[in-house]
Amino acid sequence: MIISRNISLFPYNTFGLDVLADFFAEVDSVDSFRALMLDSVYETNERLVIGGGSNILFTKDFKGLIIKNNIQGIEEKKLSETEVLVKAGSGLPWHSLVIWSIAQNYGGIENLSLIPGLVGAAPMQNIGAYGVEIKDVFHELEAIDMQSGELAKFQIQDCEFGYRESVFKNKFKNKYFIVSVTLRLANLQQPSTIYKMKTAYGDIQHTLAEMQADGTSIKQVSDAVIKIRQLKLPDPKELGNAGSFFKNPTINSAQFEKLIAQYPLMPNYPNVSNKEEIKIPAGWLIEQCGWKGKVVGNTGSHLKQALVLVNYGKASGSEVWQLALAIKKSVLEKFGIEITPEVNIY
Ligand code: EPU
Repeated sequence: MIISRNISLFPYNTFGLDVLADFFAEVDSVDSFRALMLDSVYETNERLVIGGGSNILFTKDFKGLIIKNNIQGIEEKKLSETEVLVKAGSGLPWHSLVIWSIAQNYGGIENLSLIPGLVGAAPMQNIGAYGVEIKDVFHELEAIDMQSGELAKFQIQDCEFGYRESVFKNKFKNKYFIVSVTLRLANLQQPSTIYKMKTAYGDIQHTLAEMQADGTSIKQVSDAVIKIRQLKLPDPKELGNAGSFFKNPTINSAQFEKLIAQYPLMPNYPNVSNKEEIKIPAGWLIEQCGWKGKVVGNTGSHLKQALVLVNYGKASGSEVWQLALAIKKSVLEKFGIEITPEVNIY
């Protein structure tokens, strides 16, 4: 097992922050993870597993061991005439799994096209976009207990999925290393499979119409999602960012009534997991506070999607964090709503 020292994390985080890690190791199998566990560096240091580095903000150098996940592979197993189980290595880029599924004509994750990051990170924060979350197609995952080295299986009820939440971000934070994720997808190779594509999310219908597509194939839906994302979300290769920086907050009905009277155009959605609450897009709140497209030093809120904070090239992590705190403060002052980061802060 090779453990490197004083490694720049610049290529390993999509914010493009040039921070140093004391130690760095790459793992490509269960065995190589267990080999790493035997090294004293593993035992004596703080550890952080990273995938695509697409949901992380380093505000300073990392004093510990970074474990980069590189476990590959896709296996499939027939579950029934109409459903298939697809088991993917946690180090595979998520979007390459989406592309593979579409090529096989397996439906379920086409709305999650072009989400950055690796397969292993997808259940961690229950990735979601355009009306679908990974929990909708999740079957099970395998993970190594980072203390004992034992392999454990997690079923859907064990994962405690919520909006951008799971047990792996909470009580099991830094306790498990996800090895593989198995999804249950619709086998559309079979003409008898009944599958309803999710195209209700506003932008999808509109984009399909623009593309003159009838929305009857998963490829079309994927293409529409890709088009929407490319229009709104900056490509991290061109402009450092980590997607939505904050979660969309929820408020109670009393607060909602007060705000909607004052801001009749405020977009709002029912919170599916709690009927008493209303979800407000953080992007709208941030835009109303005047941040959209604003450049502050080397950072800013993106011109096309206020919820995305960007690094114009030379920003430090703490500069991005200062901007985030200023945005959070102004949203609280103007609307009385507390917004919290979706991105992991280190
Ligand atoms: N809006 C504005 N101004 C903005 C941005 C958004 O007014 O600058 C308002 C618009 O009214 C728009 C509404 O906010 O209709 C929602 O915007 P959008 O459809 O872009 O989605 P979002 O709620 O901002 C969420 C996810 C995204 C995901 C999209 C599509 C979160 C934190 N973000 O964004 O996920 O791609 O929905 O489903 O839930 C990510 O997690 O990194 C991410 C990009």
